[in-house]
Amino acid sequence: MSKLIYILNGPNLNLLGQRQPEIYGHATLQDVEHACAAVAQAQGFDVALFQSNHEGVIIDTIHEARLKAAAIVINPGAFTHTSVAILDALNAFEGPVFEVHISNVHKREAFRHHSYVSMRADGVMAGFGVEGYSLAVRRVCSILTK
Ligand code: DQA
Repeated sequence: MSKLIYILNGPNLNLLGQRQPEIYGHATLQDVEHACAAVAQAQGFDVALFQSNHEGVIIDTIHEARLKAAAIVINPGAFTHTSVAILDALNAFEGPVFEVHISNVHKREAFRHHSYVSMRADGVMAGFGVEGYSLAVRRVCSILTK
């Protein structure tokens, strides 16, 4: 079994740390990658973090995960609420999938309350700040080592 966990990030998350810090905080995606790598490596796993502003690139990366990754942790950004295509791609992935939102989407505008990705996700973290990523990675590691 692959020991790699893919951490996928959708649009605007490249601006993490600069964009609306009152909602998303000051940590960057690089900080997220380091925190997740530390959790994963302690359990004998590794992470590869990706970010794209383009739906098709995210779908291509999910297809790549079919061959290379044991699990996916995904924050699809705004595509969460719109993308049947990302849901379909995740449905073609066989391992565990965890969905992460830095903010509590349920406390925000009504259009953020529905997630296509949640129809596939084995678990959802929302409102835990960037810690949600490493908590999701911890859960993935415990599922994969069972
Ligand atoms: C987000 C929530 C989404 O509604 C939003 O479009 C994002 C980030 C979050 O991490 O809280 O870009 O996924």
